[in-house]
Amino acid sequence: MRISTRAQRIEPFYVMEVAKAAGVLAREVAHTDRPMIFLNIGEPDFTAPPLVQEAAARAVRAGATQYTQATGLDHLRERISGWYKQRFNVDVPARRIVVTAGASAALQLACLALIESGDEILMPDPSYPCNRHFVSAADGKAVLVPTTAEERFQLTAAKVEAAWTDKTRGVLLASPSNPTGTSIAPDELRRIHEVVSQRGGITLIDEIYLGLSYDDAFGQTALAIDDNVISINSFSKYFNMTGWRLGWLVVPEVLVPVVERLAQNLFICASTVSQYAALACFEAESIAEYERRRAEFKARRDWFIPQLNALGLNVPVVPDGAFYAWADCTSVADKLGISGSWDFAFETMKRAHLAVTPGRDFGTAETAKFVRFSTASSMAHLQESVERLRAMIAQ
Ligand SMILES: Cc1ncc(COP(=O)(O)O)c(C=O)c1O
Repeated sequence: MRISTRAQRIEPFYVMEVAKAAGVLAREVAHTDRPMIFLNIGEPDFTAPPLVQEAAARAVRAGATQYTQATGLDHLRERISGWYKQRFNVDVPARRIVVTAGASAALQLACLALIESGDEILMPDPSYPCNRHFVSAADGKAVLVPTTAEERFQLTAAKVEAAWTDKTRGVLLASPSNPTGTSIAPDELRRIHEVVSQRGGITLIDEIYLGLSYDDAFGQTALAIDDNVISINSFSKYFNMTGWRLGWLVVPEVLVPVVERLAQNLFICASTVSQYAALACFEAESIAEYERRRAEFKARRDWFIPQLNALGLNVPVVPDGAFYAWADCTSVADKLGISGSWDFAFETMKRAHLAVTPGRDFGTAETAKFVRFSTASSMAHLQESVERLRAMIAQ
């Protein structure tokens, strides 16, 4: 069968090979004294809190399960708007918010609305692999710009300016980022947006981890800069609702009917049950629980990062958000007589029964040196992981 060139352009997710191998080994060692620990998982180890679960059950019982309008329940858009005001003191009118099937659908809609065939979009290397593919699926081209630890593994205005060509349409950023957990400083982001705007480009920013921010200097939404910034967000991470498939997109007013038309045709609407459930995310009781969990994520980060550094797994920038640690494994790999983060990931899997994510999918610049640890796992698991790594390195 002839497969479209568009589909063929989508690269495989190499980390799935690691995840699959880890799954097989996990079954073999399940009943030993060292069952597999998964620090390769990019989703919270918490589930939706009680009020959200009850709201979903109520919606199902009441038969509130028909399609909603393509932009989402008005009440939910109002609630999200209220969250921006309450949490970030930014006015984001509900009419500019489009509820989507996760950040993934929001990214897809934004790319389809704005990218012409051959347009180039600048993004940092390393970055979330799917972002390249959303651009590619819209017939655009992702241009990865290598970043350094000094730049917090993020683009800078100077780099955007230097990388800009006639084909560049804009930037796609993520702050805090996956895989590094680092954010762009608000002033730098403002400068980036200026450079982009002066060239008539678009600033797309994935703020899916913004709710899980641990540093007030960074935890601000880019929507405060200008109404033309396009922000992608989700109920997956801070709100602990990955499988419920719910997110949102904030767009300038002129784009609302465009995105609405695309959403009507491509998705009809996001899950109705999930939308009714998400209304309960913003109740005081739920927010209190989310904040308790955010504190737990921060406590894990505060404990785990120094431990990795002490093991020689150097985390060059302390993440200010999300639940990742981006660690350079070069010196430990040397000690173990192996080369690069791909082999390191297989070695920790086999010898320490610890699944981690090698850098490979996240870009090409220095990703062979880096490995991503996820701290979306209990403190007990993190402590056990450090013990196993220490033993493995000492052997
Ligand atoms: C940076 C980033 N953007 C988007 C997504 C997709 O999230 P969603 O579950 O909202 O589709 C993820 C998921 O891991 C992510 O890490």
